[in-house]
Amino acid sequence: KVVAVIMVGGPTKGTRFRPLSLNIPKPLFPLAGYPMVHHPISACKRIPNLAQIYLIGFYEEREFSLYVSSISNELKVPVRYLREDKPHGSAGGIYNFRDLIMEEDPSHIFLLNCDVCSSFPLPEMLEAHKRYGGIGTILVVKVSAESANQFGELVSDPVTNELLHYTEKPETFVSDRINCGVYVFTPDIFTAIQGVSTQRKDRANLRRVSSFEAMQLDTSRNIPTDYVRLDQDILSPLAGKKQLYIYETTHFWEQIKTPGMSLKCSVLYLSQFRHTTPHLLATGDGTKSAAIIGDVYIHPSAKVHPTAKIGPGVSISANARIGPGARLISCIILDGVEIKENAVVIHAIVGWKSSIGKWARVQASGDYNAKLGVTILGESVSVEDEVVVVNSIVLPHKTLNVGVQDEILL
Ligand code: GDD
Repeated sequence: KVVAVIMVGGPTKGTRFRPLSLNIPKPLFPLAGYPMVHHPISACKRIPNLAQIYLIGFYEEREFSLYVSSISNELKVPVRYLREDKPHGSAGGIYNFRDLIMEEDPSHIFLLNCDVCSSFPLPEMLEAHKRYGGIGTILVVKVSAESANQFGELVSDPVTNELLHYTEKPETFVSDRINCGVYVFTPDIFTAIQGVSTQRKDRANLRRVSSFEAMQLDTSRNIPTDYVRLDQDILSPLAGKKQLYIYETTHFWEQIKTPGMSLKCSVLYLSQFRHTTPHLLATGDGTKSAAIIGDVYIHPSAKVHPTAKIGPGVSISANARIGPGARLISCIILDGVEIKENAVVIHAIVGWKSSIGKWARVQASGDYNAKLGVTILGESVSVEDEVVVVNSIVLPHKTLNVGVQDEILL
C-alpha cells in the first residue's frame, strides 16, 4: 500500500500571496477552476494501491473540512486533514503524525508540497524509486541558473541518479538542478527524522547543564527540538550516502509563492487539461455560447454573454457574470465577479465580488516574475466605467474612479 501526504502550511505562511490569501487559505485558491491542492490530490489518484491521502497543516480544521469531504467522495480515496498545533517544519510535520500515517502499514509514502505546480509524474517516480532501492527519491527539474537560488540546489550522479550533494537556497551557485518539493520515501524516513530530533534534544540538554537558557530551544540555532526541516536537516546530511536518489522531470514545474505565479500556474493547468481531461474545458459550441479561444474554464453557474470573447488561459469561477462584448485574456475571475459590457481584462486576477465597469480596462504586462507584472484586484474592488488599471495591486474594498498604473493601492 501507498499513502500520500500533502504539506499545506498555515496562515502564518504564504504572506507573499496577499491580498489573495486574506480571503481564503492559499492551498484552496482556485487554479484552472480547482483549488491549488486539488491538482496534487488528483495526481495522487494515479498512484497504484493508494490507500489514503493526508493534508497536514496548521490552518483551522473548519477551513478544510468542506473541501476534504467533497474530494473524498469524488475521488473515492479517503482524504483527511491533520492539524498541527504549531508549525513543526516540513519533516517535523509528518513525523508528528507518523503513527496515523503508518496505520495502513504503507510500503511507500509520498510527500508533496502544496505550493508547486507540476504534472506530478508520481507513478513513474515510484517505479524509479523501487529500482534505486534507497529510502527516498526526489523529483528534480532543471531551471535557469539565475533562478536556481530560490530553491534547493542539488548534484546527482548522472549514471546511478544518486543524490550526491544538496544545499538549500545557496548564496553561491551550485547547480541548476533543483528540488521540486515532491518526494517518495520508505517508512525509514521516520527513523532519519527521529535521529535529527534526538540529536537536537541531546545538544539542548547538554547546554541546559551548563546554563539555564536552553529550555525547549537548541540555542545554537534557536530552533525548537521538534522543528525539523526536510531540506536542510534531512536531505543535506543524507546526500552522498546511497540513501537518496533523484527522478528528473522534463515536464512543466513551477513554485507558487506569489499571486502572479498563481496566474501562470492556472494557465499551465488549463493547458494540461487539454491533454488529460479536455471535458473540463469550455468548448464554445452552440449558437448561444461566447467565442472561446484556446484553453478556458467556465464554472457551470457563471453567465457569459454570447458576444463576449474569452481566452486563451482564462478561468471563470462560480456566479461570475461577463457582459456583452467583454474581452478576457489570461486571467482568473473569482466567484461573484461582474464584468460589464465591453470591458477588457488581460493578465489579471479579479477578486471575489469585484466589479469592472463598462469600457474599463484591467491589465498588466504579463511578466510573472515582476512584482507588478500581473494586475490583482482584491475582494469587492470596484473599477468604475472607462477606468484603466495597469500593472497594479488593489487591496480589498477599494473603488477606483481614476486610472492607475504601477501602483499598490492600500
Ligand atoms: N504542515 C506544515 N507544517 N507544512 C509546512 C510547514 C510546517 O511547519 N513548513 C512548511 N510547510 C509546507 C509549506 O506550506 C510548503 O507547501 C512546503 O511545506 C515547503 O515550504 P517551506 O519549508 O517554506 O520551503 P520552500 O517552499 O521555501 O522550499 C521548499 O520547496 C521548494 C520547491 O517548491 C524546499 O524544499 C526547496 O528546496 C524546494 O526547491
